[in-house]
Amino acid sequence: MCGIIGYVGPREAAPIILGGLRRLEYRGYDSAGIAVLRDDGIHIQRAVGKLSNLEARIESAMGNPASAVQTGIGHTRWATHGAPSERNAHPHVSADGSVAVVHNGIVENFAELRRELQAEGAAFRSDTDTEVIVHLVARYLRAGRTLEQAAHAAIGQLRGSQAIVLMSAREPGALIAARIGNAGGVSVGLGDADGEMFVASDIPGILEHTRRILFLDSHEVAVVRPGQVEIRRLNGDAVTRTVQVIAWDPVSAEKGEYRHFMQKEIHEQARAITDTLRGRVDFQTGEVMLESLTVSPETARRLERLYTVACGTSAHSGLIGKFLIESVARLSVEVDYGSEFRYRDPLIGPRCAALGITQSGETADTLAAMQEARRKGATVWSIVNAIGSQAQRTSDGHILMRAGPEIGVASTKAFTTSVVDQYLLACYLGRLRAGDSARQPANAKDLAFLPNLVSQVLEPNPLYDELANRFHHREHFLYLGRGINYPVALEGALKLKEISYIHAEGYPAGEMKHGPIALIDEQMPVVCIAVQDAVYDKMISQIEQVKARAGVVIAVATEGDTAIADKADYVLWVPDAPALLTPVLTAIPLQRLAYHLAIRRGCDVDQPRNLAKSVTVE
Ligand code: AGP
Repeated sequence: MCGIIGYVGPREAAPIILGGLRRLEYRGYDSAGIAVLRDDGIHIQRAVGKLSNLEARIESAMGNPASAVQTGIGHTRWATHGAPSERNAHPHVSADGSVAVVHNGIVENFAELRRELQAEGAAFRSDTDTEVIVHLVARYLRAGRTLEQAAHAAIGQLRGSQAIVLMSAREPGALIAARIGNAGGVSVGLGDADGEMFVASDIPGILEHTRRILFLDSHEVAVVRPGQVEIRRLNGDAVTRTVQVIAWDPVSAEKGEYRHFMQKEIHEQARAITDTLRGRVDFQTGEVMLESLTVSPETARRLERLYTVACGTSAHSGLIGKFLIESVARLSVEVDYGSEFRYRDPLIGPRCAALGITQSGETADTLAAMQEARRKGATVWSIVNAIGSQAQRTSDGHILMRAGPEIGVASTKAFTTSVVDQYLLACYLGRLRAGDSARQPANAKDLAFLPNLVSQVLEPNPLYDELANRFHHREHFLYLGRGINYPVALEGALKLKEISYIHAEGYPAGEMKHGPIALIDEQMPVVCIAVQDAVYDKMISQIEQVKARAGVVIAVATEGDTAIADKADYVLWVPDAPALLTPVLTAIPLQRLAYHLAIRRGCDVDQPRNLAKSVTVE
């Protein structure tokens, strides 16, 4: 989950690296550091806490006026081994100062490597697993190997998933970038001017400089020099990789007139869903076209089950997708947390498909689950937002969310666009599996109105501030939903707890009488999703049970429903919509409620404590 930036080229490296780290700070932010190569060796600056602490300490000129080519690497950290501190911040440098490294991932065998290196006299100055890398590379450089050879030898000894960028005073103007396993991406950016080259863990860090990007796959090592990049597999085989041109513009990754990225991304959802739909639905015939996922009618009809694997918000989206795909495509769906799937020996096989849902495309647990599905012979699809991500590149077919960069740690537009993608997949598979039978699945035409309905839910509403003022001191919330809106209750609870640090639970409303109703009192607000669908009456009954115990009810309800206004204490309205599309609408008031409560509590909404945007460790 750390952010990595590297640079080689004619411009001063420090400002470019710091600017890139600023854009990657959402990936991890408990400490940061930078290393640049000067004519008198490698200069390091590191600081604990936010990136602004590092920027305050950067020497006025970390550049190297004596050299036409500047070389530098930088890192913003989310700690795994070794507490957040300056001594544990990256970059780490070898004892002789000849090698510096930044790293994302976990060296699982770092303890034995550390003992082996210490026995050879290596002096460790941090508690991190990362430091073993720099001592290994230095060992092989001392033995006379080139930087590339030393890197290959060192990386070949590491177990676990890694993303590594290193540089050496012995080879100015060269960066080594390597990817092993699922530890988060490694991208190489080809600059437009004077052969400058960039390396990043995530492309928003370098998009302002170039959109020509190539991505490393697992077990690949790149040597990056001005105007050139050579990739080899760890076994030495040369690799040819196509450069991709990324359509995202850097501006869309900026906050604009919004106070927070999360606020911006909540309010971008109508536009995002418009982009998600673009070119994928014939609104005359209802036909769905998925540009990067094609299935033959025979394959579609032969499918026995779909296994959705995802984490966090993406898993909640998958739970909604179960309703969509089972209802529309008549295909059985199981939903697993990525971190659980591969440990239960799932009955997945060649007659099944797996669907990895992941905004970042780099979530280690989801990638590992997808790999397990492939190992068991299943077709593997993905729904991803990050272009060029591991999940996208390693699946047999993918559907991009097209939400644009999602910077806020709390996922919002990725959630709603991934639900829409599953609706598209459901309609696509449904037509293939239904063939010419009379039963045509739910109509993709219904999607035509969705962006406009979303816009209505995003209109200004003073009730959010009122709710935040009244409930920001509360310590517990309960979220209740039924049917296709039960996963929305889970998602609403997650949104609240991850950005406001208020404890919140999502529960199937029908389960209340089996225990949780004991929690109800006037201190714990209960959010009830009670749109006018097939389970509406059950939800009304639930609301009455909560009110009978002095509970306070905040309802999410269908506009025009006068009955609920008499029963709930507060109502957040959503427009009427086809039942299968209501989760896209009901999720948004819960995103906004969580945002306003977190702001009222003075929380860091875009970078909540202990969290990172992409969890690339298992
Ligand atoms: C959601 O708000 C969280 N930030 C987190 O649960 C996230 O959804 C989860 O880590 C999965 O991320 P992914 O979609 O990038 O795989």
